[in-house]
Parts: sequence; structure tokens; C-alpha cells
Amino acid sequence: MFKPSFDPAAFLRDYWQKKPVLIRNPWAHWVNPVEPGELAGLACEDGVEARLIERTEQGLTLEQGPFLESQFAALGQDPWTLLVQAVDQHVPGVGALIDPFRFVPDWRIDDVMVSYATDGGGVGPHFDQYDVFLIQGLGRRRWRVGPLCDESTPLLPHEDLRLLADFVPIDDFVLEPGDMLYIPPGYAHDGIAIGDDCMTYSVGFRAPSRGEVVEGWAAHVVDGLIEDDRYTDPDLAPQANPGEIAPEALDRLYAMALEALSDRQGFAQWLGSHATMPKYPETDWSPEQPFDAQELADELELGTPLARNPASRFAFIRIEGGVTLFVDGQAYECTGPTARLAEALCAGDAPGPVPPGPPRELLLALLNSGALAFDGDDE
Ligand code: SIN
Ligand code: CO
Repeated sequence: MFKPSFDPAAFLRDYWQKKPVLIRNPWAHWVNPVEPGELAGLACEDGVEARLIERTEQGLTLEQGPFLESQFAALGQDPWTLLVQAVDQHVPGVGALIDPFRFVPDWRIDDVMVSYATDGGGVGPHFDQYDVFLIQGLGRRRWRVGPLCDESTPLLPHEDLRLLADFVPIDDFVLEPGDMLYIPPGYAHDGIAIGDDCMTYSVGFRAPSRGEVVEGWAAHVVDGLIEDDRYTDPDLAPQANPGEIAPEALDRLYAMALEALSDRQGFAQWLGSHATMPKYPETDWSPEQPFDAQELADELELGTPLARNPASRFAFIRIEGGVTLFVDGQAYECTGPTARLAEALCAGDAPGPVPPGPPRELLLALLNSGALAFDGDDE
């Protein structure tokens, strides 16, 4: 939780997607949510994305996980940093770090990457395509922030890392535990650990590229088309040069393409599915035996709280008479009390009393897909 002095509306107005800003300890009570040893343990697990970057005499080197515990013990004097992706899905305290940032919609949030570095460790000067909040968890880190970069910014030749060739910092800060640096997409930054046991939490966002939107939506539209839906020209008249693709033909073809893609409702349905596709579907909470209506009624009667799978993505869009709920790419049309339940689930609120009928059918579907579980179940 942030102190009341942190004003999300003012932050969005003045800095979000505009300029970097250092926010000195905005937390009511900052507590480092994961220990270095637990992070190293995660980096040894299959299905967890982890990287190790060492600063050697020859420059920075990168190794991809999973690692063996003995590898950490064998690391020499060279500064190094371990980076572990999506720790929010594995450590509830890191997952809770996302909650205060939900003044940005869930579909824009990616994951929390956690880094651990020894003195002098870091990933080198670079820029990212996404917004990020860099929260100092433990120890100290010097951050230097540079100018806005783009595709034309020169990079160093490196097989694995996109490092800036000429990094000219503009700002220079030392972050202490709880301090937070916001970096919009494209701004150069370089963080170097000051002393050992330096941990940084990157709350990362995402934004689809135009290419991803066009490609995904067009592929979805194409799936729904039939071969007989084809160009026709019953009004064809002789033309002077048979080599010309006449403007009338071009107009008709261009309209064919645009008409097929101009479907706002269909687009919304596709986007809901696309935006809720889980990035790491390995966190499987689906029950060995599917729940039935009676078991659900019993748990609801007992008042057992429901938990959302941290790997599952929930979102909804409003439609005539209700909402479409999207969970992990699946769409559920919801009206009346089911729509209210869907909205509560998306907000992360306790659902309250769930009446029999469609609302319970929705809960059953989400429990059996593993997007929800009763708290206390062994997942
Ligand atoms: C780090 O935690 O060392 C790197 C985070 C970043 O620069 O994006
Ligand atoms: Co970065």
C-alpha cells in the first residue's frame, strides 16, 4: 500500500508514458517481499524464466536458467546479477506488490521481475519497450537515466544483450529500500548495485504493437471467412490496357479487406480473448476431479474464500445487457447477477452470496479450468 501522499491520478497526469520520475519511498511500510535464497531457489526450477548476467573483463555475459544451486556457489569475484521473471506468480508477497499499481488496468500489467545483484552487478545500459516501476527492495542501487531512444539508437554488438553503444546519462540517483523509479518506454537506464544483496523489483507493463493487433485480428477474421466469399465483377467493361488493375477493381478489393476487418463488436471479443491469454500457463490449478454443483454449494455454504490463480488473466468488456468475461482466453457471456459476479471477480473482490443458476455455473467453469480455487485447496 502506498502512503496517501502518493497520488495515482497526479502520477498518471504528469509522468505516465511521459517522463521518468524518482519517487522516494512511497510505501506505508516497505517490507522486502522475497529473500535472496528463495529467489535463487526459484531460478533453479523448470518453467521459471531466469537469467544470470556476469560483468567479466570481456564485458557482460548472459546465461539462461534453470540453474543448479551449485552454480551460484561457484560464482567468482566478478559482479553478477540474477533476474527472475514473473515472481508474482510464485511468491504471494511479490504478487501483492502489483495491487497498488492497479490504477493502471490489469490488461496493461505484465509481471514482476526480481533481480538480485552483488556489488557492481547490473544488466548494462539499455532501454525497454514498456513502462516499468523499478522498486528497490533490499540494499542500494545507483540508477542513471538517459535520453529517449528508438530503433535508430546505436547498440553494441552483443549476441544476447541489447546494450546501448553510447549511454549519456541525464539523471543519477541512488535508490534505498522502498524507493521507486518510473521509466516510460524507450528511456535509457542503467542500474548498478552499490554493495552486495541488492534486490530490485520491476513491475512491468505491456502494450501490444500495431503489428500484433493487426496480425491477430486479421487471422481471427480470416478463420471466419469462407472460400466462396470472393471478388466478383459482373459489371466488367472492356478496358484500354488489359495490364491495368483498374481503380474500380482496387476500390472494390480495398473495401473487401476493410469491410471484413471493420467489426467493432467482433474486434472487442477477439481482443478480450487475446489480452487474457496467460503468459505462463504452467501454474495449473485445475482440480484432479472436477467440482460438481453440490460440492460448490457445500463450499459456498461453508464460506470458503475463493482465490484467483495468479497466472490467470481476467478482464471484461461491457455488452448490451451485461458483460463478456474473459478468463485465460475463454469468453463467458454474463447478464444480471452473473455479470455482477464477473465484475467482482475482475476487480478482485470477494463475490458475496452467489445465487444458484448461471452465476454458480460460471464459478464451476472457472474452478474446473483452474482459474479459481477455494483457498486452502492443495493446488
Ligand atoms: C535490474 O533489475 O537490474 C534490471 C531492471 C531493468 O533495467 O529493467
Ligand atoms: Co530495463
